[in-house]
Amino acid sequence: MSARKRLLFRWLCLQVIFSTVFSKDWEAEVEPKIKALVKSCVVVPCTFNYPGTQLPDSRIRAIWHTQKKGDDIIYHEDRTKVLDSFKGRTTLLGRLGQKNCTLEIDGVRDHDNGPFCFRAEIPTLDKYSFTESCVTIFPTEDPDKPNLEKKEFLEEGVSTSFKCSTRHTCPSHPPTITWSFSNNEAIVNNRDIGHGIWEVESFLTFTPSEKDTHTELTCTINFYGGKHSTIQTPLYVKRKENIFHIIIPVAVVLGTALLFGVMCFFMSRKYKQQIQELQSGNGIWSRMSRMSQRNRQRNQPDLNMANLWSWTAALAFSCKMF
Ligand SMILES: *[C@@H]1O[C@H](CO)[C@@H](O)[C@H](O)[C@H]1NC(C)=O
Repeated sequence: MSARKRLLFRWLCLQVIFSTVFSKDWEAEVEPKIKALVKSCVVVPCTFNYPGTQLPDSRIRAIWHTQKKGDDIIYHEDRTKVLDSFKGRTTLLGRLGQKNCTLEIDGVRDHDNGPFCFRAEIPTLDKYSFTESCVTIFPTEDPDKPNLEKKEFLEEGVSTSFKCSTRHTCPSHPPTITWSFSNNEAIVNNRDIGHGIWEVESFLTFTPSEKDTHTELTCTINFYGGKHSTIQTPLYVKRKENIFHIIIPVAVVLGTALLFGVMCFFMSRKYKQQIQELQSGNGIWSRMSRMSQRNRQRNQPDLNMANLWSWTAALAFSCKMF
């Protein structure tokens, strides 16, 4: 092996030793940026690693401090060491034995920006500040508008689901969601969507009636700390297309046709009889003249008879057309 190759080999060995013993073992994963609502709480997800075997919780001391100054402590199990502005506002949620350094900051203030870094002290081993992986908080004054999902048009009598949701950073006190249709039960779901963000959603199911059309459905979200946001949407309810809308007109048309048919049947029979009568001997003209003679004698027109005659003729004609 040449001197150069030997040097390269040694360098590689050193690299392996350093990376396993030092940089790899003292490692922390902290969410770098989180947007948090002022007055609410924020939970900073954090996991870390230390060299050697796993230790019980009590053998590890956890500290959170600002990136600028290691002495500006925002979390310490000894409360007297914590900055006044953070006293009573920070809680370690993670179990240290499980290498979990998750921190909760309560009552977020508009200057809680950080960056904040985790520091682990293991008396039997070492102390380590993970100043490479710190979290920056972006406090916001106003919550986002809720998201509302619904169908564009609702159908009368058909059960419909609405979803109102929002994101937050405070799983220990998730926001509450209320609907203007408060007489209906809503199903609430709060889930972790990663990166320190949680999503709370409420599903409202109700069966609209026609009177609900053009009314407003409101979803209000109340955040821990007192802030709230709201969204309103108009409802459009379509009238139910039931089968009677088709059956009734069809029945009317069929009924009329049937009645007309029956009338035609009887009328044409009568008409046939009269034709037969006319054909058997007395011609139409002689009959007509006899009728008019009789009328003249009585000196009044036989209206009833004439009317009946003309109506029968008209009906028979239209029956033929039909
Ligand atoms: C760390 O602890 C928090 C709070 O108990 C928990 O929500 C989270 O899931 C834990 N993370 C891991 C990686 O176990």
